[in-house]
Amino acid sequence: MAIVVEPKTGMFYLHTPKSSYVMQIVDGKYLAQVYWGKRISGGLEHHIAYASRPSFSPLIEPEQPMLSLDTLPQVYPAYGTGDYRQPAIEMETEQGYSALELHVVTYETMKGKPKLPGLPATYVEQTDEADTLEMTLADSTYGLEVKLQFTVYNDRDVITRSASILNRQSTPLKLNRVLSASIDFHHNQFELVTLSGTWGDERQLQRNKLVPGIQGIGSARGASSHVHNPFAALVMPEATETQGDVYGFSLVYSGNFIAQVELSQYGTTRFGMGIQPFDFAWRLEAGETFQTPEAVLVYSAHGLGEMSRTYHRLYRERLARGQHRDAIRPIKVNNWEATYFDFDAEKLREIGQVASKCGIEMFVLDDGWFGKRDDDRSSLGDWFEHRSKLPEGLEGVARSMNEMNLRFGLWFEPEMISPNSELYREHPDWCLHIPNRRRSEGRCQLILDYSRSEVCEYIYTSMSDILRRVPVDYIKWDMNRNMTEIGSAALPAERQRETAHRYLLNLYQLLERLTHEFPHILFESCSGGGGRFDPGMLYYMPQTWTSDNTDAIARLKIQYGTSMVYPSSSMAAHVSAVPNHQLRRITPLSTRGNVAMAGVLGYELDMTVLSAAEQAEVMEQVERYKSIRSIVQFGDLYRLVSPFETNASSWMHVSADQTAAVWVYCVALSRANGPIPYVRMQGLHPDWTYRVCETGMMYKGDELMNAGIAVPLAHGDFASVMWRLEAVQ
Ligand code: DGJ
Repeated sequence: MAIVVEPKTGMFYLHTPKSSYVMQIVDGKYLAQVYWGKRISGGLEHHIAYASRPSFSPLIEPEQPMLSLDTLPQVYPAYGTGDYRQPAIEMETEQGYSALELHVVTYETMKGKPKLPGLPATYVEQTDEADTLEMTLADSTYGLEVKLQFTVYNDRDVITRSASILNRQSTPLKLNRVLSASIDFHHNQFELVTLSGTWGDERQLQRNKLVPGIQGIGSARGASSHVHNPFAALVMPEATETQGDVYGFSLVYSGNFIAQVELSQYGTTRFGMGIQPFDFAWRLEAGETFQTPEAVLVYSAHGLGEMSRTYHRLYRERLARGQHRDAIRPIKVNNWEATYFDFDAEKLREIGQVASKCGIEMFVLDDGWFGKRDDDRSSLGDWFEHRSKLPEGLEGVARSMNEMNLRFGLWFEPEMISPNSELYREHPDWCLHIPNRRRSEGRCQLILDYSRSEVCEYIYTSMSDILRRVPVDYIKWDMNRNMTEIGSAALPAERQRETAHRYLLNLYQLLERLTHEFPHILFESCSGGGGRFDPGMLYYMPQTWTSDNTDAIARLKIQYGTSMVYPSSSMAAHVSAVPNHQLRRITPLSTRGNVAMAGVLGYELDMTVLSAAEQAEVMEQVERYKSIRSIVQFGDLYRLVSPFETNASSWMHVSADQTAAVWVYCVALSRANGPIPYVRMQGLHPDWTYRVCETGMMYKGDELMNAGIAVPLAHGDFASVMWRLEAVQ
């Protein structure tokens, strides 16, 4: 068992292959955080340092001048009884009291990993893959019980944490803040790594020094958002891609969240992650339980690269689910940037014809096929065919694609309603809204109130009717605005602040139902590109449209940042037309192909206007991607050159058995008479010889990794090179 408990000393050791997470019961009741880092074999009974502090750090008992909740490193700190740092939990009784003190009551260890009720989470397939510790804390005055769940994976350096809160008293309690995990470190040397951005420029890597006080990221937009991703890492200043201590935190949730760091007055660090407390409150009736989302903690002693690969394997193998999890993903053509709303069945067929000739495997019909949708001002919610565009309906389109040997995919935006729609005219109260307040529109649309089950039922029926009638192999599930005026016509006053979380819970339930009933459908998540690229969505949909920005050079940073947490198999990446529609930049087709091949490849341009030479190049790219996609989608990613630090970017994917690899180098702006870049590869077998398919040259693994190679790059802006490496016996 990866969990060792020593009742005599009150020690709890959670061991992954290369890390240990250690807790201790202090003073017979407080659950203290002792250590998290490189694996140790035991000990640490006296690791926590105690000091007598001034009266401004209150004591628990006068006889113990060194014991204050304000200084004790804690596993799940509560508000109001002496700890002034940011708490994990803050509640309110019916009388308005909020002071809480949690004592350890009991614990239990078990094999495997229990499911989180109603929420997405990582999982095991066999109980021997992980062990779980459930630690129960309680406040005796208010009858509030907190069950902390820790799961330790046996062959991954991963620990997951979550909390469930039970109201054991006879009157209701209100939860105002309830985080998934909190962790204290005894020093304040860390830097904070986060992924921040905006629409079209998501997940830009940030690395910042920390200062005394509270800093962090979060979302109050009703979605995890383009602006911040539910991920953060605390890294030691010397940490790089390949070395140094890195502590990663990732939240399996798609809504409002925070990731917060506090540097205390005594030189310690507290990190907390969970549902955003701002505009959140949850009424807990007697006997009811609230379950937090799961936080996934990854420790790496070898820098950010190893942390990312741990997340990639876990999220690919034990977060994503269903029959597409381990299946090679199809190469698609999507008509959005080819036609926008301006298409008919004939135009779609023509695009399909060229795509099929090029070896593309799926046609995706994007926005504009339903209601009276000819632009973005109408019809969301009216999920029936736009007959003047598609006289033979979706069946007709699917049939013509299937006849050309293309599978058929379809776009939906199921969480939205256009004020100009039949649905809105019939149910004007089905959107999120507050009486007598403006209903703010974003992209001319409002958000359906998914906290109401009849709304979800309507969407389920509309979608499942189509899915039973039309041979749909893929769904792009889009979401093109964030929440405002968050209120529900169906909830009482004291529950209005539950709306955003209830929305998420019902969204997850609907996704569970649809993915379960239509297991053959590959779902791709999207929110104006990567506005909801998070582990919560990945649980239901194994891939996400990475960004609406399809420019290859902008994608270098977006994809590099995304790869901090998310596997290449989850990143949809399309080759689009030039000048690029978002940036007007002109890049070579070869580079657009090489960059898109770092994820799940697709094409999103009017293929009917490609020249014969361009069609031949696309054909070659498609064939090449088919030869490498198992390595890209299921191999290990090594980031070699950062576009955040240089004018170039380089990465490689290596198959799990190290017999094959794909290496790419791409430069942004070229330079006259500049130095020749050298790159050192990673992840190969040092003793094996590798043959480069493109050149026929042979190299030893250690030669490529230790000495590196001079990059054989053509002149010109936006040039790139891809090599396929094969181990030779
Ligand atoms: C936003 C998506 O990110 C795009 O790819 C496209 O599907 C549009 N929505 C359609 O409205």
